[in-house]
Amino acid sequence: MSIEQLAETAQAMVAAGKGIIAIDESTTTIAKRFQGVGIENTEENRRAYRELLLTTPKLSDYISGAILYDETIRQSTKDGVPFAKYMSEHGIIPGIKVDKGTHALAGCPGEVVTEGLDGLRDRLKEYYKLGARFAKWRAVITIGEDIPSGTCIEANAHALARYAALCQECGLVPMVEPEVLMDGDHNIEVCYEVTEAVLRSLFGALYEQNVLLEGTILKASMVIAGKDSDEQADVDEVAESTVMCLKSTVPAILPGIVFLSGGQTDEQSTAHLNAMNQLGSLPWPLSFSYGRAMQQAALKLWSQDLKGNFAKAQAVVYERAKENGLAALGKWEG
Ligand code: 13P
Repeated sequence: MSIEQLAETAQAMVAAGKGIIAIDESTTTIAKRFQGVGIENTEENRRAYRELLLTTPKLSDYISGAILYDETIRQSTKDGVPFAKYMSEHGIIPGIKVDKGTHALAGCPGEVVTEGLDGLRDRLKEYYKLGARFAKWRAVITIGEDIPSGTCIEANAHALARYAALCQECGLVPMVEPEVLMDGDHNIEVCYEVTEAVLRSLFGALYEQNVLLEGTILKASMVIAGKDSDEQADVDEVAESTVMCLKSTVPAILPGIVFLSGGQTDEQSTAHLNAMNQLGSLPWPLSFSYGRAMQQAALKLWSQDLKGNFAKAQAVVYERAKENGLAALGKWEG
């Protein structure tokens, strides 16, 4: 795989006015989302729900790619078209979550490290054959008393960089996701400091592992106060802090940055992205790779009538894609 091909895929992922829909919830995580709205967690319901999302009419107006879970990339539409094939034929780049989740980090109480490097090369080769052209690995950084530790930041950065190098060798664009959680009562300044340290460590590790930034996408969390903080920052402050933090840590050669929604409401996630894109010219496109903020309204509607609301829920997915696509251009009007 040439770097030109990786760079082309990476650029297509962040094409102007488009973003990514994350539908890569593990079976355990989707169980929680289904349980929240009273849907039974069967394989057929998971398949039908992913079909609803992926076959939303004209989704590619605002969506460049979708991140799938291992089970989903092996599933098909009810008419028997493998999802990855359906996506490629409809202008959506198939992506795949390849990490194996977080585990307690030995010696660092309260902190986790993402696992999944063992056997990863073979899994990536298989995913490429199944149609995937980019991958995702999520590291999780928790803010709390005396954490995150440097050990946790570095262990996660190292794993992200090893994963990214393997992806590029196998022809997949690595999406590197170091998520700084919104859990906690920290203020926005603390989030800024932690995010800055995490990104510095990540880009150092990517350099050490010979990862080509031209063929890499960063999936970042926004610089924002913790959910339980009573000092919530306004939209402009979140936008300005996030952009400043990214400008001071992320090389300009990176093709693009997409954000996770991380527990923000639909409206917050769109407003923040829009405000960032109104801050004037930036070194990279800033777009979205939302999971909950793309799906939660549609899932709720679908849960009320799985057959009857299928098309109505798709209209909601399209609307959320459109709002976020406009926000990626700084043209969302609220
Ligand atoms: P949320 O937007 O729900 O945070 O999910 C995005 C994601 O893929 C996290 O890895």
